[in-house]
Amino acid sequence: MKRMLSGIKPTGQLTLGNYIGALRNFVKYQDEYEMYVFIANLHCITEYQDPEDLSRNLTDAVALYMACGLDPNKSTIFLQTDVPAHAELGYIMACNTYLGELNRMTQFKDKTANGEKNMTAGLYTYPCLMAADILLYNADYVPVGEDQKQHVELTRDLAQRFNNKYGDTFVVPEPLIAKVGGRVMSLSDPHKKMSKSEETNKGCIYLLDDIKAARKKIMGAVTDSVGIIQLDKENQPGLYNLIEIASSLSERSMEDIAEEFKDQGYGKLKGYVADVVCAELEKIQNRYNEIIVSHQLEAVMKDGAEKASVIANKTLDDVKKKIGLEIKY
Ligand code: TYM
Repeated sequence: MKRMLSGIKPTGQLTLGNYIGALRNFVKYQDEYEMYVFIANLHCITEYQDPEDLSRNLTDAVALYMACGLDPNKSTIFLQTDVPAHAELGYIMACNTYLGELNRMTQFKDKTANGEKNMTAGLYTYPCLMAADILLYNADYVPVGEDQKQHVELTRDLAQRFNNKYGDTFVVPEPLIAKVGGRVMSLSDPHKKMSKSEETNKGCIYLLDDIKAARKKIMGAVTDSVGIIQLDKENQPGLYNLIEIASSLSERSMEDIAEEFKDQGYGKLKGYVADVVCAELEKIQNRYNEIIVSHQLEAVMKDGAEKASVIANKTLDDVKKKIGLEIKY
């Protein structure tokens, strides 16, 4: 069985973008692949987080993983810091990464271009830790949204470099990006990715959003003045994004949805998208509430950490041996 690994960094509440671009796909794949899904808590602290908020977001993220359908009997779910091998291999990876490679990472470049102050060394070397996350498990595939593709490509380069220097050690992973929903855009600015770091809350739907508030965000989504419902990503990006969201959640093709609403106006289409999204949110939130009161999270995380540690520690031991970090007695 091929192995898959992915993670989410819950610096805030999980978003509809996280769900459509990543989480939903983990659930789909868990029957066919040996699936490892973790909460990337070390990645969260590359920027300051209020400790109480962070801790609450981590708990919510695990509960939401399960509420969205990740089944701990099929997938190994764990917290990154419960497996210390991540930090250790992250450092080793940083020693095998060139500054030029990190300077080319778009997320870092964008932040620099936006004049962001007080960037930490952790933020800069974050792709090395992400490479370690993946390589520790010798994952064949990494299901992610489009924005993470560059990081998985760097991981491939680092794996190949290490294998060439020290002999075959790592599986070279492949990113797996959904054709529809790989990049969900902001509802208030369809040229930007839907993201939890948005200044206003209008463009981003959170999985735990109040249902009425979520509907309002969709009904207020920025579209265009063309007035025709069709699939024109370049000239009607807002409309295209709404149809893409509905398509990924309903399993209907984008063409089919555009065709149904072609003579009905933007309001009707938005109403349909809101119905689809709100039905999904309601389902997730009902399960989330059940999971929170069921007190099963601790056992799930303990079991996940044990299973993940076995594989991660084996890889790390092999890496240390290959590099020559061990004393031979
Ligand atoms: P993060 O936490 O920013 O996002 C988690 C996952 O959600 C996807 N995603 C989106 N997909 C479509 N449209 C959007 N608007 C959208 N926003 C987010 C992301 O592409 C991602 O798949 N570095 C990672 C976390 C990480 C990781 C890993 C992932 C750490 N180590 C190892 C895979 C393997 C991150 O910050 O994702």
